[in-house]
Amino acid sequence: MLPNSFLEQLKDSSPIEGVVSSYVELKPIGGSKQIGLCPFHAEKSPSFVVYSSTQSFYCFGCRTGGDVISFIKKIENLDYMGALKVLANRAGIAIPAVEQTDSSNLNAAILRANKEAAKFFHETLKKTDRAMDYLQRERGIRPEIIKKFGLGFSPESWDALGQHLRNLGFSTKELLESKLLAKGKNNSVYDVFRNRIMFPIMNSRFEVIAFGGRVLNEGQPKYLNSYDSPVFKKSNSLFNINLAKNNLAKNNKQIILVEGYLDVISVVQAGFENVVATLGVALTTNQAKLLSVYADVVILAYDSDKAGQAATLKAIDILEIAGIDVKVLDLSGCKDPDEYIKKRGAIRFKDAIFSSVAALDFKLNKLKSEFDVDTTSGKASFLKAATELLSNVQSKISREVYLSKICSELNVDKQAIASHVGNLIKTRIKKGVQKEQKDIRRNLTAKSQIGQSQAKVPVNCIKSEELIIRSLYGNPDLFEMLKANCPPEIFVSPNKEIYVLLLDRLEKGLQLHISCITEKGSATLARLSEILAQNFDLQLDRNGILECVETLQKQKRKKEAADILKMNAEELRKYMNDISNYKKC
Ligand code: UTP
Ligand code: MN
Repeated sequence: MLPNSFLEQLKDSSPIEGVVSSYVELKPIGGSKQIGLCPFHAEKSPSFVVYSSTQSFYCFGCRTGGDVISFIKKIENLDYMGALKVLANRAGIAIPAVEQTDSSNLNAAILRANKEAAKFFHETLKKTDRAMDYLQRERGIRPEIIKKFGLGFSPESWDALGQHLRNLGFSTKELLESKLLAKGKNNSVYDVFRNRIMFPIMNSRFEVIAFGGRVLNEGQPKYLNSYDSPVFKKSNSLFNINLAKNNLAKNNKQIILVEGYLDVISVVQAGFENVVATLGVALTTNQAKLLSVYADVVILAYDSDKAGQAATLKAIDILEIAGIDVKVLDLSGCKDPDEYIKKRGAIRFKDAIFSSVAALDFKLNKLKSEFDVDTTSGKASFLKAATELLSNVQSKISREVYLSKICSELNVDKQAIASHVGNLIKTRIKKGVQKEQKDIRRNLTAKSQIGQSQAKVPVNCIKSEELIIRSLYGNPDLFEMLKANCPPEIFVSPNKEIYVLLLDRLEKGLQLHISCITEKGSATLARLSEILAQNFDLQLDRNGILECVETLQKQKRKKEAADILKMNAEELRKYMNDISNYKKC
């Protein structure tokens, strides 16, 4: 455990609004609140609120909430200690030496095992002619590129890697956790990757966090990727982010995004190191966020097949929401960047990078190809779809430019089309406001976290509990009064756990800072931040609180009366007994 004094110091020098604003653009909305676009889900109008006075955040869209530490954990994909390190670094505070926790020991062991495995695969590749031949002759990869990526080969054996790593001192548990080994029948363990070309996947600190393995020639599955482990989350990782982030031009921070491992390798071999790939799944918001940390522009160079083009459209939306400018590279007839470079060479690829078009041009071109604009009806349908697209463009200038271009190409009157776009925008704003109001109504009670079993509990009781918690959190001086008048037993929902926790801390003379409430786990923390967010402006005074207490007590009496009705003779006698004993003491 870290000393309290350190945590207090860290907390004081890491105000949530300051920390969050290095990831999210925040706008003040009064009452020590700030709002921005949620980094944890895709949204176009902001519903992510940061509360300075309670040092918490909450998103009314995806219902994610917490404190400054859980924010860092989530956005940087770190564990608790990792998040503390980031915050300490940021604040320039030294972390006191403490015993390594079990989990950080395990993570370190997994990273070491991965590194050793990568070495082992690389050495094996050098000794395996058919694998070397495949990479060099069939795929045209040069030796220095093989070395640069640390490519490898996993032998055709069920336990060669396992044995090698155990000889180096790794335990079976560590190797299973690293996902290099898996459990078979009768508790046996075996190597996951066999007879495959191995691609080490690294994080931005050049640590090997996982592997991708490709079959030699044909076979199924074509690629096998490591399962998620304590150091690897597929949906948060990008192949080659380590090289890419170090090779961005100062005044032109752009990253090329491709589909495959071998596309990345070809593009790097052609001289462009600023290239990454997702790992076989569609681009996620987290990956977009990771990219936005390093790049201002992403150039999409997905496969030219139907699936690749559909994925391009989706990726454009996700990247734009993350605040990245998106361009699309035209592979003109080639299957993927790998094939393009092989067929046309590095210089032509560089040209293609230069002439990649803005996402909107790509979308409009694609639309145009779907309609026959030489016919009147085709032209009308295209214009309908195109105006819909343009009404989503934020910048008025861009809208004007594109409108002029389309109208002159199709030879139609710009005025009429422009006013149509204007109407679309007005309707959209109206709909957005309506939806927002609906969301706010739906969110009046923090019921999402309460769970199904509580469905029968009256909403006013849950609201009363929330208000008591909110008020106590905001004004710890209420402690004595609540201790005397509001026993935790009268709480009817799992909010009780939070209430007990707050009372307990105050009893011990400790602060109620939200970051101190991590011991109960992240679900409790999330619920507390939700309660604070949804009742932010509803802090009550003494009398208001007493009313809430009365509501809860009434409910308790009602429930007791109902319970008594259900009792049999024996239970009733016991109950009466309990009451008279209770009265005596
Ligand atoms: P591709 O099939 O396009 O592979 O899948 P590739 O990397 O271009 O390889 P070659 O050139 O055909 O040999 C693109 C990416 O999708 C993921 C991998 O990350 C791959 O690089 N993938 C593909 C899988 O995860 N599993 C699969 O079975 C296939
Ligand atoms: Mn491919």
